[in-house]
Amino acid sequence: MTPKMSREEFLKTTAMASAALLVSSLEGWAATTTEKKLRVALIGCGSVSNRYIPKLMSSSMIELVSLCDIKYERAEAQNKQYNVNAKTYRNIDDMLKGVPFDMMVTTTDMQVHGELNKKALLAGRHVWSEKPMANTYAEGKALLELAKSKKLRIWGAPAVVNSPQFAFMSKQIQEGKLGRVASAHGQYGHTGPGWSAFFYEKDGGSMPDLGVYNIATLTGLLGPARSIMAMTSIVNPERTVDDKGKIKVVAEDNAHILMMHDKNVISHVMCGFCYFDPHGHEATNQTLHSIQIYGDYGNMRLIGYDWETNGVMLDTDWEKPPVLMSTDKGGYVWQEGANVVGESLLTGIEPKINVEHALHVLEIIEAARKSQATGQRIKVKSTFPFPVV
Ligand SMILES: NC(=O)c1ccc[n+]([C@@H]2O[C@H](COP(=O)([O-])OP(=O)(O)OC[C@H]3O[C@@H](n4cnc5c(N)ncnc54)[C@H](O)[C@@H]3O)[C@@H](O)[C@H]2O)c1
Repeated sequence: MTPKMSREEFLKTTAMASAALLVSSLEGWAATTTEKKLRVALIGCGSVSNRYIPKLMSSSMIELVSLCDIKYERAEAQNKQYNVNAKTYRNIDDMLKGVPFDMMVTTTDMQVHGELNKKALLAGRHVWSEKPMANTYAEGKALLELAKSKKLRIWGAPAVVNSPQFAFMSKQIQEGKLGRVASAHGQYGHTGPGWSAFFYEKDGGSMPDLGVYNIATLTGLLGPARSIMAMTSIVNPERTVDDKGKIKVVAEDNAHILMMHDKNVISHVMCGFCYFDPHGHEATNQTLHSIQIYGDYGNMRLIGYDWETNGVMLDTDWEKPPVLMSTDKGGYVWQEGANVVGESLLTGIEPKINVEHALHVLEIIEAARKSQATGQRIKVKSTFPFPVV
C-alpha cells in the first residue's frame, strides 16, 4: 500500500485490480464494505484464543466485537486480558442475537465446529473455522453448499499454504528441480494436550488436530489424494486432563496415513499424541525437518514444521552439500488464517487458503479412519484447485 493512498482508495483499487479473482459472493460483499472494518466474533476462548485474539486485534481492517464461551468466565477473562472491549456471550444463540458482526471465528472443541459454523451461516455470517470445519466430509460439504446458497464464505484451518516455504517448495516441484517426484513424508506429534478431554474423545484424535497440517501440506504440494490406506492405534488408553481428570482415550493417538496422488506419487503422514518432541508447540529453534519430498534429481526437507517454518534444505547436487534456502518467514504465522480470509472479504483478493482443500483434507482423515476400521484401501472423491501456488 502506498502511504499517500487512503485506505478507501486502496481497497477500491485492489478490489478492481483483482476483479478476475473475485468469487461472485465475495465481489458483492467487498463492494459494499470498503468503508468499514470487518466485524469479527470469536467463539471458544480457550488455549488457542491466546494466539487468535492478539492476531485479530493487530489488523487495521478487523474489529473484534464479540467473544463467546460456554465457560463464560473465559470470555470475560480474555476480554480483560487483551483489552478487547468486546461484548461477551455465554452461547452462540445470544451472540448471534447480540451486537452485529460479519464473520465468526470458531476456536471451540473440534466436535462442535460443524454445528456452530452452521448456525453462523444460517444467521448470515461468514465463517473461519479452526480444524476440522466439520466432523465429516458430508457435513463440511453441506456447510459449503449452505454458504454458497446464502452468498457467504466459509474457510477452514490450517493456513500452511500461506508460508513462503510452502511457496518455495511448490515452485521447486512445479519447475522440475527435483526431477520426477516419487515420494514424500510428513510427521508431526507431541505428547498431547493436557488441558481438554475433547482431543481424546470421539471425532477427536491426532489426525484432525495434528496430522491435518501435514496432510494439507503434502496434498498442497503433490496434488489431491486419490486413495488412502492407514493404520491408527491408541497407545495411551488413559489420560489425565485438566477439565475432566482421568479419562478413557477413544480417538486414535497414533496414526500412519498413506496417500496415493496422481502420477503414482505416494506420500506418508505420521502423527500422534505420544511423541516426545521438545519443539512440538514452539518451533522457533527447531533445526530438524518435518516434511521431506523425494524426486530422482533432488530432494528437499522443510526445517521446523509446516505451521512454523524455519527454512528448506535443498539437495540437488551429487557433489555439493545440501543448501539451506528460504529462511525468511515473511511475516507468516500459523494463526493468521482468520486475518487473511477476513481481510480478503474487504479487499476482494481471493486468498490462497481454499475451502475445497480443507474439505479434501477432512475426507482424507475420514478415509484413514475407515481404512483402519476395515483394513481396506479407501477411494477419495473430492478435489481442490491445484497447484495452490
Ligand atoms: N491450543 C492450540 O495450541 C491450538 C493450535 C492450533 C489449533 N487449535 C485448535 O483450536 C481449537 C480449540 O483448541 P484449544 O486448545 O483452544 O481448546 P480449549 O479446550 O483450550 O478451548 C476450547 C474452548 O471452547 C469452548 N467451547 C466448547 N464448546 C463451546 C460452545 N458450544 N460454545 C462456545 N464455546 C465452547 C470451551 O469452553 C473452551 O473454552 C481446536 O480445534 C484445536 O484443534 C488449537
